[in-house]
Amino acid sequence: MLNAADTFPLEERAASLRLPEGFVLGAATAAYQIEGAIHAEGKGESIWDSFTRRPGVIVDGTSGETACDSYHRWSDDIALLREMGLGAYRFSLGWARMQPGGQGALNAAGVAYYDRLIDGLLEAGIAPYVTLYHWDLPQELQERGGWYSRETSERFADYAELAVAAIGDRVGHWTTLNEPWTFGWFGHAYGEDAPGLADGVKGGLAASHHALLAHGMAVPRIRSAAPGAEVGIVLDLNVVSPASDAPEDVAAAKRFEGVQNRWYLDAVFRGEYPADILELCADLLPEIRQGDTTTIAQALDYLGVNIYRRSVIGAGAELPPLSFARVNPPGRYTATGWEIWPRCIRDALDFVHREYGPKKLLITENGMATPPEVPGSDGQVHDPERARYLVEHLEHVAEAARAGVPVKGYFAWTLMDNFEWASGYTVPFGLAHVDPDTRDRRLKLSGEVFGRIARNTR
Ligand code: NOJ
Repeated sequence: MLNAADTFPLEERAASLRLPEGFVLGAATAAYQIEGAIHAEGKGESIWDSFTRRPGVIVDGTSGETACDSYHRWSDDIALLREMGLGAYRFSLGWARMQPGGQGALNAAGVAYYDRLIDGLLEAGIAPYVTLYHWDLPQELQERGGWYSRETSERFADYAELAVAAIGDRVGHWTTLNEPWTFGWFGHAYGEDAPGLADGVKGGLAASHHALLAHGMAVPRIRSAAPGAEVGIVLDLNVVSPASDAPEDVAAAKRFEGVQNRWYLDAVFRGEYPADILELCADLLPEIRQGDTTTIAQALDYLGVNIYRRSVIGAGAELPPLSFARVNPPGRYTATGWEIWPRCIRDALDFVHREYGPKKLLITENGMATPPEVPGSDGQVHDPERARYLVEHLEHVAEAARAGVPVKGYFAWTLMDNFEWASGYTVPFGLAHVDPDTRDRRLKLSGEVFGRIARNTR
């Protein structure tokens, strides 16, 4: 079969990409997916440490125990960013590495690790974009109710303030949460991610509410600890279209879109939850106290958007009463089974700009998985499909910027192959290959192409 990438004029399209002046190009990672060293130097247990020990939950039976060993090899990570000429690096702090039990004093060794990383980045002229929570809740907080409990929201705000006070003097961009929809629903409705609770809509909504509350409580604490820094949240948004014009498909698409997009956007930007979802799920709601949605709706400096695909949704049996089914139209698909539909990035930016008008938008993740890759005889992984994916999506970002959408940056997911949650190491997304035995990193073709785009943009 002809490889879809064979007919794509990669070099020309990459060379003719024009992003606005000052546009930030970076790469993203997350603590649990890359750091390893899960027991090192005072780090506490997180829900991903305990979840991955359960038999059968991770497709290949692996965990983040060693991952890319970035706890020891952070300078190799910086070398990759440098090699590509990227201006920014988005990474997360492991909560349980910073604050082992999720409360009380910070772990000095954890702080020192992120200190080293940040200093190294700054020395290389790379701006750190730091996420406070990328899914690795301290296990002790899980045992007290996790994201079902308001106490976790309060603990998060305390942790955010301490962490920002400890390392914030050198960080210009803070993100509270990464993808509350994903960890809320995949961790608490479907049970596929940590903490592995399959409590349906009730679980998804409770976790999401307390996560959003955590975000709202943390923003003023971050601002007071780092007055000059920009603060935002990262949401995974999908533009949703109904599978057909049939009223039942249109209604299902609206319900799905209501929980994936509007639940978070309405709360963060308008201080309210969408009325249709409140009504549909009236019996399944957590306690939402007077004033909670006002707390959530803090003024933000930017909205980070993670986007990988569009969603085509029809009526179905999933998560009643949301009762929807995902439809996979014919087309190109990645190894995670996600449709490649580059226009989705433009549509999501347009949608959020038009409906919610955030001051500034960043694409905080975008990228694709392939089946496991093996370096060629020259030692490099040749991944033209991934390079094409990046170019095609960036073209739409450039167009959105030209059309006046305030999108100011793009972070590729991900810097290097890493632990892809319940999929283990079976679906690499990296711009760099990581040797499974030596952990040596090497840029793939896609990383080189992305680097050329970055150099043309600076
Ligand atoms: C979203 C998450 O933020 C990230 O952790 C994950 O690896 C990628 N998407 C790919 O699934």
